[in-house]
Amino acid sequence: MASAYRLPGRVAEAEGALGAALWDAGCEALLEDGDDLVAVFAADFGAAPNETPSDAVPTVPPGGCWEVVDERDHVAAYFEGLDAVTVGSVVVAPTHRQAVLRSGQTVLWLDPGMAFGTGHHETTRLALAALADPGLDLRGARVLDVGSGSGLLAIAADRLGAADALGVDVDPITLPIARANADLNRSRARFEVSDFAAAPPAPQSVDVLVANLFAELHVAFMDAYARALAPGGRAFLTGILAGKEGAVEAAVPASLRLVRREREGEWWLLAVALAAERGA
Ligand SMILES: C[S@@+](CC[C@H](N)C(=O)[O-])C[C@H]1O[C@@H](n2cnc3c(N)ncnc32)[C@H](O)[C@@H]1O
Repeated sequence: MASAYRLPGRVAEAEGALGAALWDAGCEALLEDGDDLVAVFAADFGAAPNETPSDAVPTVPPGGCWEVVDERDHVAAYFEGLDAVTVGSVVVAPTHRQAVLRSGQTVLWLDPGMAFGTGHHETTRLALAALADPGLDLRGARVLDVGSGSGLLAIAADRLGAADALGVDVDPITLPIARANADLNRSRARFEVSDFAAAPPAPQSVDVLVANLFAELHVAFMDAYARALAPGGRAFLTGILAGKEGAVEAAVPASLRLVRREREGEWWLLAVALAAERGA
């Protein structure tokens, strides 16, 4: 069994700060049930959190109530409703849908399972658009996807020509899902369970880093990003909620240059670059 946190009459706020707070609290899926917004969590907290919240219960926005649910029903309903998403030249299609491709488009088949990354969230779309940007040539690049979730971004990088695409995620639940998605797409993208904070990449070992995390983590990881990038390298940082982009920008060290800011809805992507020659 799983737990659901139901917020009556709040469905319109799914894409805004309320939805963001529920994703930050660790929910696995956000569902619409009539006018209600329902956040599904993998753990079974019982009905008790309504009366006696404990440390194990995630901190969620007020105004809702906890329910015990059958996890499979909710997750199946969520994925059943997903359609294909087109971002630049990339079409992300759940395997139960058909994808109609135009010339030059690449399809990524994706079953996100319980991991984040269907291509529907603004932050994933921003990151995908950055990787698929015709001005960025991934051919021959070493790409690192920090917080790879379903594996979508690393798989996209591989399909877009990267020489090596590695996805790392601290959550072990993501590993079999990302690997299965790579197999589904005949992708050579590799995945590892790893905490970026504890095991940052070797210096100058990454040409393109993409990270869909959240603002505070980007601030904490910024120096490690700078060290990991090879000369001329770029990092695309998203998952930054509007209002927090200033803190991330302020953390950009002198060795990196902020080269792009993109916003979709409540979310930002910031792109930073390392000069082609260290010290240039
Ligand atoms: C918002 S999801 C992004 C998933 C996918 N890359 C996408 O863009 O749709 C963030 C992922 O980062 C992972 N994560 C959080 N902290 C991390 C860390 N310190 N090291 C590695 N992964 C981390 C989470 O487990 C989660 O799967």
